[in-house]
Order: sequence, then C-alpha cells, then structure tokens
Amino acid sequence: MTVADTTCFAFDRLTPRERYKILIGTVVPRPIAFVTTVDKAGAVNAAPYSFFNCLSADPAIVALGVEYRKDGTSKDTARNIADTGVFTVNIVSDAVLEAMNVCAVPFPPGIDELAAAGLTPVAGARVASPRIAECPAALECRHYQTLHIGRSREIILGEVLCVHLRSGIVDPKTLHVDPAGLDAIGRMGGHGYIRTRDSFDLPTMTVGEYAARTGHQPAITK
Ligand SMILES: Cc1cc2nc3c(=O)[nH]c(=O)nc-3n(C[C@H](O)[C@H](O)[C@H](O)COP(=O)(O)O)c2cc1C
Repeated sequence: MTVADTTCFAFDRLTPRERYKILIGTVVPRPIAFVTTVDKAGAVNAAPYSFFNCLSADPAIVALGVEYRKDGTSKDTARNIADTGVFTVNIVSDAVLEAMNVCAVPFPPGIDELAAAGLTPVAGARVASPRIAECPAALECRHYQTLHIGRSREIILGEVLCVHLRSGIVDPKTLHVDPAGLDAIGRMGGHGYIRTRDSFDLPTMTVGEYAARTGHQPAITK
C-alpha cells in the first residue's frame, strides 16, 4: 500500500486554540448533548455540548467537556450540575436543530432558553432537571465525578439513571433503537453539522468469517 503524505502537528508546539481547531475538525462527527439543568432555585437552563459521549455501560457513564468562561468561571450548565448533582442529556434530532442553536446564544442570566427556543420542558422521572418534549430521547443523569484537567475545561461524568425514548423508535423486545426514527444530528468542525440518515449495518466478522471472505488466515507477527 502507498502511504499517503501527511502533515504531523506536534501538540506541544501548538497554542490551545490551534489544538482545538485540529481536534474539532478531526474527531467527527461528535454527538450533541443538549443539556438541561436547574439552578438551586429551580430555574431551568439548556445548552448544547458536543464534547460529549457515552463511555461505559456498567456503570452507565456519559461525559461532558465544559469549557470555562473567559473570566475563569464555570458555564451555567457546569455550575448547576455542581449545585444540584443532576442533569439531563437530550438528543438533538434534525427537527430540533434550530431550537438547539437558540439555546447556545450567550443570553444574560435569568433568560429562559427553552421558552426563547419554543421548546417544552417535561418533569424528570428521577432527577430535578426536566427533559425536552421535542427531543426523541433523553438521558437522566446523576453527577458522578468532575475531572479538573486544567484551566480551560472541566470534564463532567454523569451516571445515567434512566433513558426516555420516543415510542415507535425503540423495539421494546430487542431494544434496537431505529436510527431513522432518532434522526440524530452530529457536530463537525467549525460551525458544521451532519445528519445521520446515511446509516448502514456492518457486523464485526469472526476470524472464520474473515478467512472465508478473504481466502487467507491472518498473519502471525509475534
Ligand atoms: C453544537 C454546539 C456544541 C457545543 N459544544 C460545547 C462543548 O462541548 N463545550 C462547551 O463548553 N461549549 C460548547 N458549546 C457552547 C455552549 O453551548 C455555549 O457556551 C452556551 O452558551 C453555554 O451555556 P450555559 O452557560 O447555559 O451552560 C457548544 C455550542 C454548540 C452550538
């Protein structure tokens, strides 16, 4: 095989902003957590986070990478999670994309983002933070741990207590979630997004299936 030319970026020679640009353009698509929280007084906050993924199923752990504000203070989402110990991750479908973008506007404190975006809060089953009725799925989470990895970002781990899935997109017997029904949107670099409508199945092969398909056994190198 011909090895394609590459440009290697040594991260110890890049500024944090340059590293950020390389990472968000390369690690794609990223799922988007549309996170709802409440403050100590019960006021609801909503904002999207694409430094997000699920990392484990036992315990069921999701992670959010929340940047500090320029003045070093925590964003409302991180502060509310620290104060109340809970949050809800709502999955962004194509139908909710524009409303989600309204909730990313850096409104001054006291603004109800969900109302501004025309979205409907529904009381949580296990946590004080509401889920968003218009989203096809919601993960109710309890704060598990926060990793203080540096001055730019805190990584918040949450344990998933329950998941709401819109009826019709999950088979209750097989637990298969229909990707077309979820219609999730992913985040690309810059201001880019991607739809998930071009999904397909590719089962992992056994060694026997690999040998049958390729006609040879894998080479033993060690
Ligand atoms: C699609 C999308 C993904 C985002 N991902 C992140 C992220 O992973 N981390 C982060 O700190 N900010 C992220 N932001 C910016 C926050 O949503 C924005 O700062 C928001 O105002 C924070 O609100 P809060 O203070 O209510 O938590 C993202 C914005 C958008 C539109």
